[in-house]
Amino acid sequence: MDGINVIEVTEDISLSGHLCSQESLNIATNFQFQDSDILLVTFPKSGTIWTQYILNLIFNKEKFQNQNSIPTISLNPWLEHINFSESLAKGEVSRSHFITTHLPAKFLVSNLKNSKVRVVYVARNPKDVLVSYYHFHNFVKFLPDIGSFDNFFDQFLEGKVVYGSWFNHIKGWLGVQHELNFFVITYEELSQKPHQSIQSLANFLGKKLEPEDVETILHYCSFSFMSQNNPVKINPIFQPFFDHSKGQFFRKGIIENWKEYLSPEQNIRFNKVYQAEMGELTFKFPWSLD
Ligand code: A3P
Repeated sequence: MDGINVIEVTEDISLSGHLCSQESLNIATNFQFQDSDILLVTFPKSGTIWTQYILNLIFNKEKFQNQNSIPTISLNPWLEHINFSESLAKGEVSRSHFITTHLPAKFLVSNLKNSKVRVVYVARNPKDVLVSYYHFHNFVKFLPDIGSFDNFFDQFLEGKVVYGSWFNHIKGWLGVQHELNFFVITYEELSQKPHQSIQSLANFLGKKLEPEDVETILHYCSFSFMSQNNPVKINPIFQPFFDHSKGQFFRKGIIENWKEYLSPEQNIRFNKVYQAEMGELTFKFPWSLD
């Protein structure tokens, strides 16, 4: 892959030019959703692939029994990616009804309003997002060299990373939640109350799960199963982008890994910014900032 290519699509949002283009963004923003679509929305590193897996399992658990891998990218195409728009242009997109995006709300909300599209927003403690994103930059070839952790910490807090500010992303989507058919799930709840979280997600999606179905889903979406049967590695679409000598997609899969990375000073700075940005949100997040 030659050179790192980041495109500034608006004043505050940049995207990877290896995965997206202004044209693919235009196609995403003008995309005509169908009421049966399920749109998975995440800021990068919030548990996207994990939730893609869970969605596929909720709807297709029989199909995936005894399979070693689920090629999630083909089942959950990425709305803003070049390959999505190319497939659309060629009429090749299979309308699986699962679509994934990292885009901020402002790009999509006008097309989602007044639709019945079920929007599943996955949120994660931003300190863990930051750490996960830092490692991701070191191991993928399509993101810019971000230097030291301290450097990346500053960029993340300033919103100068690919897809922009985590704070704006979550505030943007939560700000329009009452206008959409919207469900929030968190990485922390999926980790700590997996049975309850999967049942609530299935309820939102109108799927009834028996307790044994939940057990099956939990087996196939566990960190150990997913990392051993690595769907990201198996799927050839991902291959050119990853340097497996520098890291792995299934890195830790835990909560509060940030405690090993943020210095006490960084933690204080982060909490101040968090308070200033998020103080007015009434939504109760299950993560702890201490
Ligand atoms: P870490 O880097 O903290 O380990 P995304 O899919 O949005 O890029 O998110 C990637 C993060 O989700 C990584 O976090 C990855 O390890 C974690 N993850 C992926 N599958 C998981 C699973 N089954 N259980 C828990 N965490 C998982």
